[in-house]
Amino acid sequence: MKISEIQEKILKLKKELDFCILVHAYQTHDIVEIADFVGDSFGLAQKAAACPNKNIMMCGVRFMAETVKILSPEKRVFLPEPDAGCPMAEQLGYEELKKLREECPDHTVVCYINTTAKLKTLCDVCVTSSSAIKVIEGIENDKILFIPDCNLGDYTAKRLPQKSFRFINGGCPIHLRITAEDVALAKEKHPNALVALHPECRPNVTALADYVGSTTGIMDFARKSDAKEFIIGTESAIVSHLAIECPEKRFYPLHKELICKNMKLTTISSVYNTLLSTGGLAAPYGEEILIDDDTRTKAKRCIDEMLRLGG
Ligand code: 13P
Ligand code: SF4
Repeated sequence: MKISEIQEKILKLKKELDFCILVHAYQTHDIVEIADFVGDSFGLAQKAAACPNKNIMMCGVRFMAETVKILSPEKRVFLPEPDAGCPMAEQLGYEELKKLREECPDHTVVCYINTTAKLKTLCDVCVTSSSAIKVIEGIENDKILFIPDCNLGDYTAKRLPQKSFRFINGGCPIHLRITAEDVALAKEKHPNALVALHPECRPNVTALADYVGSTTGIMDFARKSDAKEFIIGTESAIVSHLAIECPEKRFYPLHKELICKNMKLTTISSVYNTLLSTGGLAAPYGEEILIDDDTRTKAKRCIDEMLRLGG
């Protein structure tokens, strides 16, 4: 079957089965085209809380699907590829965080949304790359324990000098591939290009950027800018989406290996197969996300707090 035929079938099935398809911006363009909403982690969390459909499919990674279930427990939430996890979300163990909390009881524990539901039960406030500064600025306590991404943490801390931060040594293996030398080389090759990258990059890399922001933020920056060339420091999908959306502009990846294998596990076929399976039209496919009530209620507190402070 051609991709366009699969897409047509998906659009029909999602209506019949009352599905809302949420898609993270790192997914491929054929998935973006069948989405009800495409966005960054903050936008996806907001949509998850407001989505009117009975069923939600999250095309992204596991922590994103868990966030949807936490916010919409009455809905059935599906992750098309059960192995699509975010390695950063698993970097800190539950017992380790419990110990850390005990070591600094006067700190507010802030977690990046890229964490498991279980870990979120131990946290006070959650943030995303686009909401971190606003949310942490709104926290009354000046002492912050930020987990797990020390790079997003550092980027945020530099913009909130009134607060004191403690970090752990976590981070995204994909964005950590980018070095300051890569930025220098790319600028030399494309002297007129602006550099836009994600705050999961190392501090000496973000220091060299013209724009730092979430996946959606980077795309908005490139769409609205008068510049004609951009060096993009985040997952390769953003370069592809921008090249399709803005054919009059040029986009260059900052590094040739910026592919998140976990994000790329989901394909247009996995979306189709998950719909067929949910409708009882084919063999089981995908995973329905189930979270016990205790974990869900405890994890929800920090996500609610993010949505309240993040506006
Ligand atoms: P965004 O919230 O910017 O979409 O980031 C999610 C992510 O996993 C980045 O690697
Ligand atoms: Fe996780 Fe990095 Fe992949 Fe984002 S790009 S989902 S942070 S591994």
